[in-house]
Amino acid sequence: MNKGFMVVFDGSNGAGKTTVIKGVEKYLISKGLDVLLTREPGGTPIGEKIREVILDPSTPEMSYITELMLFGAGRAQHIEEKIVPALAQGKIVISDRFDAATFSFQHYARGIELQTIVKINDLALNGFSPDMNIILDLEPAEGLKRVHSRGEGLDRLEDEKAEFLEKARNGYLVQAQQSPEKFTVIDASQSKENVLKSVIQVIDSLLASQLGK
Ligand code: TMP
Repeated sequence: MNKGFMVVFDGSNGAGKTTVIKGVEKYLISKGLDVLLTREPGGTPIGEKIREVILDPSTPEMSYITELMLFGAGRAQHIEEKIVPALAQGKIVISDRFDAATFSFQHYARGIELQTIVKINDLALNGFSPDMNIILDLEPAEGLKRVHSRGEGLDRLEDEKAEFLEKARNGYLVQAQQSPEKFTVIDASQSKENVLKSVIQVIDSLLASQLGK
């Protein structure tokens, strides 16, 4: 394989992305493949600084447009500095969230106009698009229960009302319906083992289609 591909894990907060990503990484390494794990917001030194600003629960006054542009700024840096070079080296890039989150959270949940989101996202993406978004779908209330049971505090976005997280969840489901070739929805209320099994099936078919290219 001379060109890598990129898979994004996204979905409700607390749906188990971290565990699934670790399982997928292990699986790909066992197949002798070169994997790069990354995340958004974050992924680069600049992106991680932006992440701290975005998620800081002590600044609830952040304007929605500021928030949108910070996600966009981090994404532009992420693509140029990290993702494109890794793909050129034939790596499989796995990102914990990416551009679909901006549509879900900033458009469907925050209510920023779609055109504005597209403008910022297009600037950041500069024609780039991940190969597949795997959405781990879970009732937000159940996800937050899991976050609490891990003893973690809520970030600025998780600290929103239940309705906000419901809208974000629905945003992922709408995107998946609109672009079935770019999205796979997995029911994250299943056992961790079953979630991982379903995810690995998707990864296997992606590997098969890449090999066929
Ligand atoms: P994480 O908790 O999965 O690391 O994600 C951080 C939070 O940022 C999460 O609540 C989702 C949110 N988010 C957005 O609102 N827009 C985005 O574009 C991204 C990437 C994340």
